[in-house]
Amino acid sequence: MSTLNNSKVTVPWCLQAKAENRKIVMLTAYDHLMTKILDETGQVDILLVGDSLGMVIQGKNDTLSVTMDESIYHTSIVARTAKRAMVVADMPFMSFQSTAYDALKNAGRLIKEGGAHAIKLEGGKRVLNQVKAIVNAGIPVMGHLGLTPQSVHAFGGFKVQGKSEYAVQQLISDAIALEDAGVFSIVLEGIPTEAARRITEHLKVPTIGIGAGSYCDGQVLVTYDMLGYSDSGPRFVKKYSLIKSIIQDAVKKYADEVITGDFPTSEYAYNMKIEENISPDIHDNIKSYKQVDPETFDDLF
Ligand code: KIV
Repeated sequence: MSTLNNSKVTVPWCLQAKAENRKIVMLTAYDHLMTKILDETGQVDILLVGDSLGMVIQGKNDTLSVTMDESIYHTSIVARTAKRAMVVADMPFMSFQSTAYDALKNAGRLIKEGGAHAIKLEGGKRVLNQVKAIVNAGIPVMGHLGLTPQSVHAFGGFKVQGKSEYAVQQLISDAIALEDAGVFSIVLEGIPTEAARRITEHLKVPTIGIGAGSYCDGQVLVTYDMLGYSDSGPRFVKKYSLIKSIIQDAVKKYADEVITGDFPTSEYAYNMKIEENISPDIHDNIKSYKQVDPETFDDLF
């Protein structure tokens, strides 16, 4: 086991991982408790606050409607919670495509207001000016090539990219251009294994694959997908648990016990005597709860 596992993950850490042939583990996170669970394993190197939040948190059909404010909101929760993992915030659709100025301003917000350690944006040569402006401001950038979900309409759906020799050559030159512009890693999504292998071999910065086969320097999945929150999902998602049925079994047991009255037993209740001579001050304090001494509530737990 690597001795680096306890150290905080940084940009140099990621570059060193590639140099030492160690795989990078990345998952998505959007909320406090899931971030805590993932981070406490000490095995998730990068937590991505992906714009996939539009689909898995908000139930939309794609990622396009996610806003800067939503991205900042979720990033701030994840960044506040994670102790070891590097937190990367996704730049939402149209937060960086128009101008380098917009891109820099919005990347800055994800760092200043969201507390992210780095940002990710989709695209190759066409977003180089944006990447350079952000990198020049000292903000680490993760690239994203292949099946970039913000281009879903241009692709005519969520379709595998890089299927022809020409398309692979384009991806390789995009990846090299991104590396030259200063990105510290590149997500490769929805491309053939062989295309990802060739791109990875051309780069000094690590590639992180999702539906891009085993030759990438790391892997990322949407956490809800790999935990099995949903019955369906793309072919590249391996389900490491069947959490949907675990949750539903627990909910059925709870519902049964509520209906039968088996829950709550006295073990789960406050079986205390009602005091008759409680001071009127305490009632006043409870009304304006901000003034209440927290110790008053100790017996709640
Ligand atoms: O938004 C996201 O979660 C992503 C990953 C799937 C790479 O971009």
